[in-house]
Amino acid sequence: MIISSASDYRAAAQKRLPPFLFHYIDGGAYAEQTLKRNVADYADVALRQRVLKDMSQLDTSTELFGEKLSIPAILAPVGLLGMFARRGEVQASRAAAAHGIPFTLSTVSVCPIEEVAPGLGRPMWFQLYVLKDRGFMKNALERAQAAGCSTLVFTVDMPVPGARYRDAHSGMSGPNAAMRRYWQSVTHPAWSWDVGLNGRPHDLGNISAYRGSPTGLADYIGWLGSNFDPSISWKDLEWIRDFWKGPMVIKGILDPEDAKDAVRFGADGIVVSNHGGRQLDGVLSSARALPAIADAVKGQIKILADSGIRNGLDIVRAIALGADATLLGRAFIYALATSGQAGVKHLLELMEKEMRVAMTLTSVAKVADINGDLLVRQ
Ligand code: FNR
Repeated sequence: MIISSASDYRAAAQKRLPPFLFHYIDGGAYAEQTLKRNVADYADVALRQRVLKDMSQLDTSTELFGEKLSIPAILAPVGLLGMFARRGEVQASRAAAAHGIPFTLSTVSVCPIEEVAPGLGRPMWFQLYVLKDRGFMKNALERAQAAGCSTLVFTVDMPVPGARYRDAHSGMSGPNAAMRRYWQSVTHPAWSWDVGLNGRPHDLGNISAYRGSPTGLADYIGWLGSNFDPSISWKDLEWIRDFWKGPMVIKGILDPEDAKDAVRFGADGIVVSNHGGRQLDGVLSSARALPAIADAVKGQIKILADSGIRNGLDIVRAIALGADATLLGRAFIYALATSGQAGVKHLLELMEKEMRVAMTLTSVAKVADINGDLLVRQ
């Protein structure tokens, strides 16, 4: 199969992965309306084609929080990457670093912080979930800081897990006993755990590192499910703001009022995101939420955007709608699941090429010049 896009990687990943893992990646919440609109609404953003402006000196790079990025994209935090490819977090982070962009390690990674960060050649970003066990959060922050992580991505749109029908049907979620039976019955050539940093198989990354011993995936998901914290409010974030010395980005903002609160709170940036349509179905797509948020923020802090970015043209569209940079989610996960590190590297090369085409044919030579003037106002 010839692969020339993220959607080709999606098709290839579906062939390779056991169904429960493919649907965990691919699926969204409830009827998946927001999931579909995320992609469709970016595709609907029309750009003004401009020609004959000498685009031979085109530059896709940008700077964010003092770091140079070869394209305005960051690999989004994704839980359980190490289940989609052996040592998936290590492979994806290496591909990102080789392409010159940051990788964000999820709280719920298979490989722990200490395994992924060293030897990367650039600082890793770290994502933190709000969990009832504040001891876990503090421990994770301390370890991320010790490992030299630069930017903290603090995800706030998961005070409760989303209702995902595909996961319930596949056995990925559900009552603990049933889930445990299901997990124990699963074997598949594409699904293999690696031996972790401390030599034990089936390590469960940052959570095992905190709790001391690996407990198996069903217990892990059970612990996680019962540890999301619906009581979280801006006040709870203050100790993290005090503790984390580097840039802090709040992920999961979809409303201009919340974006203004993030500015007041002292965040360095926000991620306009609906978690890839995995949390509350029916909320605005990222493409539709962006313009009003950019208006509200007025350049005071950085705006990152994800949910529906599938190619380099979408990156240009998101920036034209008001983002400074984008996060890639499923696009890179499908590539990782298909061909590991080489797949992610290839995907990033494709995205950069697509960006170059989009910039050339809209006549913008640098990322800083991508703005609302590129949009066809309908
Ligand atoms: C995610 N996402 C996510 N976000 C986060 O903050 N922590 C996490 O552990 C995860 N885990 C995760 C797993 C899987 C399988 C997916 C698909 C997504 C959300 C992710 O960071 C990002 O917001 C979305 O993936 C963006 O949407 P697209 O680009 O995938 O449509």
